[in-house]
Amino acid sequence: MPQPIPRPDGLLSLKALRQMQTEHSVLGALQVFSDGLGPIFELRLPGFKAVMLVGPEAARFVLVSQKDDFRWRSEGDPVTLLLRHGVLVEDGESHDRLRRFMNPALHKQMLKTYVDEMVQRTDEVLASWGQNSQQDMLVEMRKVALLILMGGLYRVDYSPDMQRLWASVLKTIEYISPGIWMFWPGVPRPWYTRRLKELDDYLFQIIRLRRQEKTQGSDLLSLLVKQSDMDDDLIRDQLMTMLIAGHDTSTALLSWALYLLGKHPHVLEQAREEIDRVGGKDAPSMEMVSQLHYLDHVVDEALRMYPPIHLGSRKAAVDLEFHGYTIPSGTRVMYSIYLTHRLEQYWDRPHEFIPERFDQFKPTPYTYLPFGGGARNCIGAAFAQVEVKIVLARILQRYSLELLPNPVHAHMGATLEPRPGVMMRVVKRS
Ligand code: HEM
Repeated sequence: MPQPIPRPDGLLSLKALRQMQTEHSVLGALQVFSDGLGPIFELRLPGFKAVMLVGPEAARFVLVSQKDDFRWRSEGDPVTLLLRHGVLVEDGESHDRLRRFMNPALHKQMLKTYVDEMVQRTDEVLASWGQNSQQDMLVEMRKVALLILMGGLYRVDYSPDMQRLWASVLKTIEYISPGIWMFWPGVPRPWYTRRLKELDDYLFQIIRLRRQEKTQGSDLLSLLVKQSDMDDDLIRDQLMTMLIAGHDTSTALLSWALYLLGKHPHVLEQAREEIDRVGGKDAPSMEMVSQLHYLDHVVDEALRMYPPIHLGSRKAAVDLEFHGYTIPSGTRVMYSIYLTHRLEQYWDRPHEFIPERFDQFKPTPYTYLPFGGGARNCIGAAFAQVEVKIVLARILQRYSLELLPNPVHAHMGATLEPRPGVMMRVVKRS
């Protein structure tokens, strides 16, 4: 007789509810379940059922050993409805083919060609801060991330359209965030239609314009347009995928990193001292960021505590066996990056922000996976790591930062975001 997968009882659910209220986040409840039930447990709410997996064994199981027994695509989910045939929601040969097309634009060797764009776009946003002002970093970092993604990967100047499309981008993200559709699959949500179409129209327009250009570069949009067997619809799906997956994650990471720096002024001071010592006032370069080891650890630790993609979601394609439990075919399976990053067996004081922990220590395999793992790890990991360091280095070179008192909680949207925002006073350095 197979054992039923552990499920929270009334007492544990009550404890989880209390923790959720304390942290103002569902993550508090998941932490209680993980502490109480171990590496596999079932989540059941009216209309919703999923199996949650936690820890290195689980990650290896989903990402490597049983990878082919899972499907990324879940028909009817908003992510699939939005991205259609984007690389993120394709499986098998179709996925591998798309990934092969796009890899060259995100290859490590291409990164240096994006650095100037990263610096200029950061400067463009910083120019609007003036000498002394208050800024919401969640908003400001989204501007930076959008401009960098469009300017770098698509070679498109997004500045003139950013304001006009701001609400469309936010609505698109809201459309794929956890919500009522999880409990009521197929629920009509007509209020998104207009905004989604605005973003679609924009993407089709930049594809059309690029097709008209005589000389095309080696950026991602040009690579896609050069593929003779890719039509505009399929290119639009990849552009939408990279736009959402590539900017919302960097936005979250940058704003969490700034929040954590603001909360820990001694870390902020040390990061600034390193940047001043290594780079002075020079524009950040690949060489400079490769020497910013302390900043590396700040980013590593921000990614550990608040991984923007805090879980990976799959469908079991066959009956699976994990830890002696059977996961029936068709089950929604989630592996939790967030909970894995906070397991006490692997992390000393896991709920504390300690960048120095990365000085000497190398995490046990699959205990640290902010960019996933295996063959379907994040295609933009190298891009994002350079981007985040360039942007942070530039901000710290140019501005002194002070976190203003406003409570922040981890919001489970399309990514894990600091909500309601990260308010900071920014004062220009002389
Ligand atoms: C801080 C920034 C980022 C983080 C933390 C992040 C995290 C992740 C994670 C955890 C996965 C695997 C998800 C899973 O196993 O279900 C993933 C996949 C992916 N990421 Fe990222 N990502 C970041 C930035 C980017 C950027 C900049 C791009 C594009 C330019 C990008 C594009 C993608 C795509 C297309 C996939 C799917 C890959 C596939 O299925 O083959 N990401 N990302």
